[in-house]
Amino acid sequence: MKILGIETSCDETSAAVVENSKTLSNIISSQTVHKYYGGVVPEIASRIHLQLISKIVEDALNEAKTDISELDGIAVTYQPGLIGSLLVGTNFAKAFSLRYSKPLVPIDHIEGHIYSGFLEKSEIEFPFITLVVSGGHTILFLVSSFTQYQIIGATRDDAAGEAFDKIGKILGLDYPAGAKIDKLAKEGNPKRFAFPRGLINSNDFDFSFSGLKTSVRYFIEKHYKNVVSIPESDLKDICASVQEAIVDVLIYKSVKALEFYNIGTFVIAGGVSANSRLRNKIQGLSVEKGFNVVIPKIQYCMDNAAMIALLGELKLKNTPKETFFDYAFKANPTPIRSRKSS
Ligand code: KG4
Ligand code: ZN
Repeated sequence: MKILGIETSCDETSAAVVENSKTLSNIISSQTVHKYYGGVVPEIASRIHLQLISKIVEDALNEAKTDISELDGIAVTYQPGLIGSLLVGTNFAKAFSLRYSKPLVPIDHIEGHIYSGFLEKSEIEFPFITLVVSGGHTILFLVSSFTQYQIIGATRDDAAGEAFDKIGKILGLDYPAGAKIDKLAKEGNPKRFAFPRGLINSNDFDFSFSGLKTSVRYFIEKHYKNVVSIPESDLKDICASVQEAIVDVLIYKSVKALEFYNIGTFVIAGGVSANSRLRNKIQGLSVEKGFNVVIPKIQYCMDNAAMIALLGELKLKNTPKETFFDYAFKANPTPIRSRKSS
C-alpha cells in the first residue's frame, strides 16, 4: 500500500509517501520566521502552510517517484494543533481525496508521535512506553497495541521543549532555542550550576518545568547585569546545567515507569528527542539496565508527515475503505489531555 501523508498542525509543513511502513519520501519545511516573534504566530503559520502545501505535496510525490494514480489513500493530521494550520492541511486533503477519489484517513498528531518508533524499527513488541517530548507536549504513554494506549504521566505546566525555548529567551537565544542550548551545552560543564529537577521525588510519572525556568531567571538577575554581559564560558555552563536538569527528570521518570510497569522497551518521540544528551544518556542507561530503546532519526522525531502516513496505512489496512470517504470530520485544536483519554 502507498499512502500520502500530510502534516500541518503547527509550524512544519510536511508531506510524505510511505509504502508498507517504509518511507519513500518525507519532506519537511520548518518555518523560521517565528524567531522574530519569540514563538509561533498562528496566523503567520497558517498563511505559510497555505503558500507551501501544494509544492511540498508535489515534491513528496516526486521524491517517492509516485504518480497520484498509484496512491491507495491519504492521511492527514486533524488534531491537536493550531486551528488555522490544521484547517489548511485538512481542507487540502479533503479536496485532494475528492478530486482523485482516494480514501482519506484523519490522524491524531500525538498518535503519530506515539507510533513513530515503527518508522525506525519495523518490529517493536507491545507493550512499550513512549515519551512524547516536544514544544507542546511532555507525556508518557503506556502503549499496548496499535489502538490502545494510556497516559501514565505528563507535565503539569510547561512542556520540556517550551522550557528549552523560554529559558533560551531568558538567555538571549533565538526561538526555538532547544537545538542552540544543545550545541552550547556540548562545550559546557553540566555540573557547575545545580538547577532544580521539578517533581523528581513525586510519587507519580508527572513532570514540571516552570520552576526551572523561574530559577534560571532569578539566577541571571542575581549574577549578571544583563544577558549580553554573561561571559561565553558561563553561558555554556548554564546551558549544560539547564539541559542536564531537564534530561535528568525526563530519564528518571521514564525509567521509573519502565520498572513500575515491568516494560522492556522504551521509545522517544517529539522534537526534544533530537537532544544529543538525552539520546546518549538513554542509550547508555538502556545497556546498563537492560531495556530496549528505540530512538527514531531526527526527521521522524520532529513534526513530520511520515508518521501520519504510517498510521494512515495501518488504519486503511484494518478498516473497510468506504469508511474513509467521509468528509464530516473537523480540524480540532483541543490538546490530548483535555479530551477523554482512550
Ligand atoms: O516536535 P516539534 O518539532 O514541534 C512541536 O513542538 O510539536 O518540537 C519542537 C521543540 C522546540 O521546543 C525545540 O526547542 C525543541 O523541540 N528541540 C530541542 C532540540 N531540537 C529541537 N530541544 C532540545 N534539544 C534539541 N536538540
Ligand atoms: Zn509534534
